[in-house]
Amino acid sequence: MNDNNTYRFDDEKRSIEIFRSDLPTPWINYLSNGRLHAFVSQAGGGFAWWKSPITYRMMHYRYQNVPMDGPGFYTYVREKDGTTWSPTFRPCETPLDDWKAEHHPGWSQFTGTKNGVTAKLKLFCAMDTDAICYDLEIINNSNEEKELDLFAYADLAQLEWTTDLFYGYYIQSQVTTFYDEELDAIIYRYQHTPQPFVEDVPLIWMAADRKMDSWSGDRDKFLGPYRYEQNPIGVERGDCGNDTIECGHPCAAGQVKLTLKPGESDRVVFTLGVAPGGLIKHKETLANIKTDLETFRSHDAIDGQFAKLTAWWDNHLNKFDCSIPNKDIERQIKTWSPIQTVHNGRYSRSTSWHAPGYRGFGYRDTATDMVGVAYRDPKWATDMCLYLLSQQFEDGHALHTCYPEDGPAMSRGASKHADDHLWMPMVVYAILAETGDYSLLDQEVPWLSPEDNWTTFGSDSVWTHLMRGVDFTENNLGEKGFPLTFDGDWNDIILRFSRAGKGESIFCGQQYVIILRQLLEIGAAAGKPQADLDRLRHCLDKMVLNLETHAWDGEYWRRGFTDEGDIVGTKEAEYGKIFINPQSWSVWAGVGTDAQNNSGMDNAIKYTATDFGLRLVYPGFKTYPHDPDPFTGYNPGCAENGAVFCQANGWVIIALSKLGRSEDAWKIFGDMVPHTALTKIGLERYEAEPYAYASNIIGPENKRHGWANVTQVTGTAAWMDLVGTQYLLGVRPTLNGLEIDPCIPADWKEYSVTREYRGATYKISVSNPDGVVKGIKEIKVNGQIIKGQVIDPTAVSGEAAVEVVMGA
Ligand code: NOJ
Repeated sequence: MNDNNTYRFDDEKRSIEIFRSDLPTPWINYLSNGRLHAFVSQAGGGFAWWKSPITYRMMHYRYQNVPMDGPGFYTYVREKDGTTWSPTFRPCETPLDDWKAEHHPGWSQFTGTKNGVTAKLKLFCAMDTDAICYDLEIINNSNEEKELDLFAYADLAQLEWTTDLFYGYYIQSQVTTFYDEELDAIIYRYQHTPQPFVEDVPLIWMAADRKMDSWSGDRDKFLGPYRYEQNPIGVERGDCGNDTIECGHPCAAGQVKLTLKPGESDRVVFTLGVAPGGLIKHKETLANIKTDLETFRSHDAIDGQFAKLTAWWDNHLNKFDCSIPNKDIERQIKTWSPIQTVHNGRYSRSTSWHAPGYRGFGYRDTATDMVGVAYRDPKWATDMCLYLLSQQFEDGHALHTCYPEDGPAMSRGASKHADDHLWMPMVVYAILAETGDYSLLDQEVPWLSPEDNWTTFGSDSVWTHLMRGVDFTENNLGEKGFPLTFDGDWNDIILRFSRAGKGESIFCGQQYVIILRQLLEIGAAAGKPQADLDRLRHCLDKMVLNLETHAWDGEYWRRGFTDEGDIVGTKEAEYGKIFINPQSWSVWAGVGTDAQNNSGMDNAIKYTATDFGLRLVYPGFKTYPHDPDPFTGYNPGCAENGAVFCQANGWVIIALSKLGRSEDAWKIFGDMVPHTALTKIGLERYEAEPYAYASNIIGPENKRHGWANVTQVTGTAAWMDLVGTQYLLGVRPTLNGLEIDPCIPADWKEYSVTREYRGATYKISVSNPDGVVKGIKEIKVNGQIIKGQVIDPTAVSGEAAVEVVMGA
């Protein structure tokens, strides 16, 4: 239980119990089978979408609404005397005798008790059928017989979200709901045909595991005038009304009546499903819904789907396990970071309670997520890698934001970024290090057409795509020899320095060095042509020299150059004297001396440290370069302008671990565990989920210092996931095998890791008799001492017992 009795982690179950519904912000969980997705908050708020929240948004969620966090996956329990309450507490908000919410990997559960009746609502996505189950268990613990009405409700959206927002008043004439007697389901058809993929337009249905006593497809009639989800007239009168629409606002609502004797319980499952083909193959689609419903009326089948969902998560999470002395950090490493990495891999930076689902897949964002996914699910990372490479133009740069499910209209307006294409070698390296299968490099991938940023043409191998990225960077170096920033590098706001197209990014130069080293390693291992390797070596030497010559500011590394050739990130500047990224990436890139890199990190800590991580830049810009031209619009202390940018702290920790600075590394890593950050800052100030990273935490230059801003959709999870497992606990896949290179607190005597790797299970126990922070004395694999720190996977099969002794 945390200090203020708000929540409690259950580590055995990999879940969190939440005891307060009116949290400062929604604390959400994602439900998904990979095609059908939803998020739900502790108070039941949320929405569902199929494939894309832009084109197939199934439900409304009102982003600017007050009160926040609605509507959602709402259910109602109505007693005979009219008392009505919700197991999610909202929307009814009727005081309950007992209540809690639980978020588990891929499913959530809400338990409410009122007047001796307990309702348990389990929400999850079936794996094989695209349907969300509202699985309700009702228990009568009172001494009286209870006559109850149960309702489930979803506020259905016009599928194309922007059309709904801008033209919904016209399109409402193109929506229908109808009740299908044979299916006993309420069905919603969206008939707006300028849809990007008309053949896919789905029907949406709601049904129950038994005959519904009433139903509604008409939101306005179900809710009633000037009412809302808290007090629908259909619930109040105990009858949904059996209304449908041929224009207007659709909904799906159903009612089931129950009578429970004292001690009796029952289970009622409502399902909200989606079936593609509703427009052009209407009859076939209805037949498919029938097939789906045949499954979904059996509790055995629903339980089977739930078991399949939990098995998927168990399998994913079991690939890496650890036992370490600090249980808050252990929980974050083995459970919550990888869970969030999966969500980010699915939703990029697009959809959460505050991210409305419009951003598609960020090229760099998804690439970095896949670096985090690769060690647990190389197949998924490979699929995404091939997709992203198909979004690369022939000149080597990449489409900044991709909309695979939304058609060409969304893909217009491409911007050019210095870094997007440079993340792909990292993804490929991560996959190859995990699988050892170099055939990936030979796979053919098409090029994206700059005509429409949507169609593709021709194809070349993955290796050629990666080399084309090198070409692009080489062909677009600035006067000082660094990559031209164009519309930005990783740091969105840096484009302010390069509006005339001449600004240069030192940070991107460091990124380039890292990926050139990776490409050299990959190319050599895969036997790529010597000419390619020579070229990579030449580019590498050139950029390293350039960094050594132009990037050092005397005490730390600079950030870049403006259009006018002025330095960004220098002690001479009034604002933005120091940026942390060039300090950490220099270490990672292996550029400069240890003295320089330690000085860079010392200064990063000196100027930017807070109690919960380092700020991205110090001091935040108030103006740049002169008054009428505010630097970014971001206030000092906000986001990229001086907040603790959480993702960038992952790179700081990598750098510190490489420098052997365990105390600094673990302090930042530990302080930034969301539960710890929340505890230190206080719930009312931090506000956000204690189990998911935020993109940034507002910095001390701003009054709202400590607010965790933009939660869930951030690359932080993937990097913290990697940092914890590969750089701190030090079990790192390389092309040659599993490298063991821990950087741990000196007072740790031992810890253990179990990890799947290339078909074998490695049970690794690390002991630290001399109290060192880094360094290996001896590694034994199945009793045999090995040479070096990399375990050769060809010498291991089945299970390997790995005993590691740290020491000087
Ligand atoms: C959020 C963006 O999604 C991501 O692409 C960017 O790298 C970070 N902001 C940092 O600027």
